[in-house]
Amino acid sequence: MAVLNIVKDGDETLRKVCRPVTEITPRILRLLDDMKDTLHKANGVGLAAPQVGVLRRIAIVECEPGELIELINPEIIEQSGEQEEVEGCLSVPERWGITHRPAKVKVKATDRHGNTFTVEGEGLLARALCHETDHLDGIIFYDKAVRMLSKEEIEND
Ligand code: NI
Repeated sequence: MAVLNIVKDGDETLRKVCRPVTEITPRILRLLDDMKDTLHKANGVGLAAPQVGVLRRIAIVECEPGELIELINPEIIEQSGEQEEVEGCLSVPERWGITHRPAKVKVKATDRHGNTFTVEGEGLLARALCHETDHLDGIIFYDKAVRMLSKEEIEND
């Protein structure tokens, strides 16, 4: 396994629409493993494949330590409510913004064994699921931010 380089804001890779995974190959499994190492090294909550330069519909989220969720071809199939929270991204260092996200989401995805599953999340998990799914469509959180935090606000936090 390996820690991969995280693509930073400004790189066109982050603006592409990713292709679905049609076959789970050893290469895809290796990517999932490497993404996990990369996420842990960066102390992040979620990571999408385009953030490591791979334009495939793959993302991982880990809101609770040890509860890693691997998502292949994730799709938000239900959402409800609204939450307003501060959000950031490993590809956008030192910048945070306030976004409105659904309070609850239900996501359908494929796991590494090729099985379809659904995951429901609220709070941080709902936000992470939305944020990572957005990455697969070339959307960065600040596209949706209602307001970015100022330097003073970040420093005082
Ligand atoms: Ni992100």
